[in-house]
This record gives sequence, structure tokens and C-alpha cells, in this order.
Amino acid sequence: MYYPDELIEEVRLKNDIVDVISGYVRLQKKGSSYFGLCPFHNEKSPSFSVSREKQMYYCFGCGAGGNVFTFLMEYENYSFLEALKFLADRAGVELPEAEYSEEAKKRAGIKAVLLEINKAAAQYFYVQLKNPQGQNALTYLKERGLSDDTIKAFGLGYSNKYSDDLYRYLKSKGYKDELISQAGLVSVDEKHGVYDKFWNRVMFPIMDVNSRVIGFGGRVMGDGKPKYLNSPETMIFDKSRNLYGLNRARTSRKSYFLICEGYMDVISLHQAGFTNAVASLGTALTAGHASLIKRYVNEVYLTYDSDDAGTRAALRAVPILKEAGITSRIIRMEPYKDPDEFIKNLGREAFKERIHKAGNGFMFGLEVLEKSYDMTSPEGKTEFMREAARRLAEFDEEIERGNYIEAVAAAYHVGHEELRKLTGRMAVQSGLAKPVERPKAAIKREKEKENGVQKSQKLLLTWIASDEHIFRQIERYIAPEDFSEGLYRTVAELLYEQYENGGPNPAAIISRFADEEEHREAASLFHTRIRELSTAKEQEKALAETVMRIKSNSIEEAAAKLEPTDMKGLQRLMEAKRELQNLAKLHISIN
Ligand code: CTP
Ligand code: MN
Repeated sequence: MYYPDELIEEVRLKNDIVDVISGYVRLQKKGSSYFGLCPFHNEKSPSFSVSREKQMYYCFGCGAGGNVFTFLMEYENYSFLEALKFLADRAGVELPEAEYSEEAKKRAGIKAVLLEINKAAAQYFYVQLKNPQGQNALTYLKERGLSDDTIKAFGLGYSNKYSDDLYRYLKSKGYKDELISQAGLVSVDEKHGVYDKFWNRVMFPIMDVNSRVIGFGGRVMGDGKPKYLNSPETMIFDKSRNLYGLNRARTSRKSYFLICEGYMDVISLHQAGFTNAVASLGTALTAGHASLIKRYVNEVYLTYDSDDAGTRAALRAVPILKEAGITSRIIRMEPYKDPDEFIKNLGREAFKERIHKAGNGFMFGLEVLEKSYDMTSPEGKTEFMREAARRLAEFDEEIERGNYIEAVAAAYHVGHEELRKLTGRMAVQSGLAKPVERPKAAIKREKEKENGVQKSQKLLLTWIASDEHIFRQIERYIAPEDFSEGLYRTVAELLYEQYENGGPNPAAIISRFADEEEHREAASLFHTRIRELSTAKEQEKALAETVMRIKSNSIEEAAAKLEPTDMKGLQRLMEAKRELQNLAKLHISIN
């Protein structure tokens, strides 16, 4: 943490959360809270609530929640420090020069300079495009159908034919060789010295979510090779965590993103009004991309190239997205190669229609599969249906499996009941054919258990943070040390401390976490709910079980760590186990 906690707390307290959020969302007072339409997901009736008393917000629809810093980090995509600066400014609190460690200062310093260099380069390329020497490049872009506004909006540019003019320009602005090279804009070679990486290409600046230039893609005009040249990964450019066009797409307020493959696809789509298009940067979609996407939408439409490579890429992306909780649909571009060509030939209305007709990922997988069977012969079609049933058998959840069986039966004109039976047979067959995968199952169980304990800890933190009556009943049994090491335990420690000194204040705890991932996770700890628990009796039962689970996990962990010669420790452990048995009879009352 760079700033003292007291100062951060001062900034938070001087920015009333209702006032700040009112600047973004229309809020209406209802009882002790304010309600409005959630800015983080699409909805028609308000489930987004803001509490002045708690200085927290929470959406009952999508689960978004946190304090005033969290809100700005989510809404404006600020880092914690950016949110802090913004709010300090707003309230007239002066922030002293931050006390960075030498190392942090150096890294932050280098990153800032790399961003400056990239920005200067983008401006330079842009100017070259508009100068006489950029005439060919401008014509090239115009011939590809781009308007002046589009060129400006995406900051497109041109790198000259000279081999070192960008380098000389950056030097003239005072940047050192070492840093220009770290920015990936030049190559250094013993024989030829320093020369520009991009040379006679149209330039596509790559920006992060906050529209800061972090790298470039450069395209040859014509058929030269390589078609695209890209900045190497640098301290500020991580291809697996950035998406081209996201800085613009994130404000499109659509409930889904269009994901395509190329720079030109994104630009064409935006120009045609599809401002929710993004592209992974010439690499396969990663889990990093998926979690980035998940911050904004729960659904994507994959609009990859219609060639084999594009099809395979789409098929690979579907499970990665699913893992992150994002559903995918697939838009076909046939008979054209990619969205750019499609739109150029058939226009935006036709593309809209394709969006409309997009199939889901599973059905698309079958369409691809279909091509390797002779569907006109009974044998071919039977073989195909067997494989389809094998895939259907892999849906764990019964309802989902049933829905897909229905969809497949309808699409391929086979009896629903027959397909259901076939799927059952395939499940049994593949179950018998597959060796029992013990280790994997064990790992899965281990993971589930871990998640179960985590969930319990989260649940208990939410409970005790919102209800002193509950806290007073459980504090005898559960100490901060019973929570998992790291974030959970730190939060528990802070919470227990607050109870010692006046009362719980989750909003103040959340601000202690400046790292974005941690901040988000800390915020989520105070909003864990089980919808199904409606009566007090059910809640009491769940609460007792939760306490029990946390305690027994904590004892198990302590036992695993215990040295066999540690007699005292052993005694303590026995004691704890005895207590645990008493705990089984525990009754905790909810008011
Ligand atoms: N790509 C790359 N390097 C290459 C080829 C492609 O980095 N040598 C990346 C680029 O991000 C490109 C994307 O992969 O935008 C898709 O490539 P491709 O389909 O070949 O190009 P298009 O985007 O269709 O480009 P254009 O329309 O200009 O031909
Ligand atoms: Mn293309």
C-alpha cells in the first residue's frame, strides 16, 4: 500500500457513496436504501441498491457489490490508485507524493515512460499518414472502405519507408535507447545499429481498456510477408490479457461482445455500428481474455474466419469461455472469409441477421462434425447420431442434457425419445469403456472440498459483518485463525478488530486492498448469499453447519501441519476436537 490507511479512509468518508453513484445511475430512495437500474448488467426493473448507512452498493441481480472505490474501479475501469486520486480530487483532499519503494518506483517509472513512448509513436504514425509521404497508406485504408472518422477514432497511422525516422524522432524527444528498445519499437543489431521495427506499413495502435497505447500491429500494403508485424510483449503489453477494441466496446452497453480475429474486422464492425466488437491479438483466446470479458458481459458471439483455422479456433474458445461462466454463440460468415469482407459485401443488415441466427457452441460443433459423415446414407447418418449422442452424454446436468437432446433431435429430424435412449446407452458405453479415472476424480473432489470451505468462509464473513447478534454468538467458537491464510484471514482479522473498536465496517475493510483482483475478491466476501434459504429456521441450520465446517477444516489443516513430536500442539488439537463435538449441538439464533 502506498498511502496510509487513514488517508484512504478520509477520502472514502468524504465521498458519500450515494452522491458519487448518483452521478452515474438514477437512484430512488426506498426505505433506508436507494435503488436504481444496475449499470453492470442489463435489466428492466431496479435491483441495484446503495446504502448510505453502510456506504456500500450491491446488485441483487448480478451480485456486483463493494464500496465507493470498487464502484469506480468497475464502472470507470480505474485501478485502485486512479479511483483514489479521482475521489481525493473530488473531495479536495490533497494526496502527498506517494511513498513507493525504490523498486516499485523504478518499475512504475519505466512503465510510465513506455506508455509515453508508445503514445508519442502513435502520434508520429498518425501525422505521417496525413502527410504527403503517407498518401499511399491513406489510399490503401480508404480503398478498404474506412472513413476519416474511423481512421481517427482508431488512431490509424503509417510508418515511413525510412529505416530509422521513428527512432530519431523519439531520440529528439529525449527518450533513451534502452527504453525505446524496451518499448519494442526498434531492433538493435551490431552491424546496422538501431533501426525501426515497423517500416512502410499501415499502423494499428493497440490500446488497453483505458485507451492507453500499449503496442502496435503493422500491416503491409499488398501481399508482402509477413502480412502483420506486431509489437513484442513488453512490461505494458501482455497479449493474453488485452483485447483489441475493448476500450471502445466496453462502453457499448450491449449485453454481449462480438469476438473476431483481426484488427480490420473490429474496425469494420465498429464502423458499421457494431461497437461491441473486440479481437484477441492474433493469438488464441486465453483464460486471461475470458476473465477480462467476464467483467463486462456474460455472453459472446464468436465471429471467427470461416476457414478451417477459424472454425477450430472457435471450437477451442467455447470451453475456455464456458469455464469463465460465459456462454458463446457462433456467427457464420460464409460465403465470405471474415466479418470485414462480409460487411463490405452484404452490409450491416445482413450481419444483424447473422447475429440473429447465430447458433450456440454445441450445435456448431455438431455442424462441423456433420461434414465428415455421409449424411445422405442411413449408415452415415446413424454413425453421426451415435457420435452426437456420445457428446450429449457428457452434459453432467440432467436438465441441460435434456434440453440439448431436444434441440439435436429437432435439428436432425430424429425421434426425441430414441435419441434420449441412445444417449443413455452411449453414457453407459463410454463409462464402461473408460478406465476409472481415480486420480482425476480425487483431484476434483479435493478441489470441490476446497471450494466448499471457501464458500463457507465467505458466507460466514457476510453473516458476521452484517449482524452483530450473530457475531457475538460465534466469536467464542471461531477465531480469525480459523479462516484460510491470506485474504480471508486478513479480512476476518480486520472485522474482529472492528468489533472490538465500535462496530463492523466492511466498506473500510475493502479499501485496504489496492490490488485489483484482491479488491474485487474482498468486496465479494460481504455479499455471499444463499438464495434458497428463506426461513429463519433454515438459516439457523445453515449457519450452524457453516461454523462446523469451517472449524473442522481448520482443525484438519492444523493436524496436517503438526510435527509428530509436538506434544503441546497435539494436546491442543485433541482439545479442539472435543470442542468440535460440542459444536455439533450448537444452536445459533437469528434474532
Ligand atoms: N495476425 C498476425 N500476424 C500475421 C497474420 C495475422 O498477428 N502474420 C493477426 C492479426 O491480428 C490479424 C489477425 O491475426 O488481424 C487475423 O489474421 P488474418 O485473418 O490473416 O488477417 P485479417 O485480419 O483478415 O487482415 P486483412 O483483412 O488486412 O487481410
Ligand atoms: Mn480480413
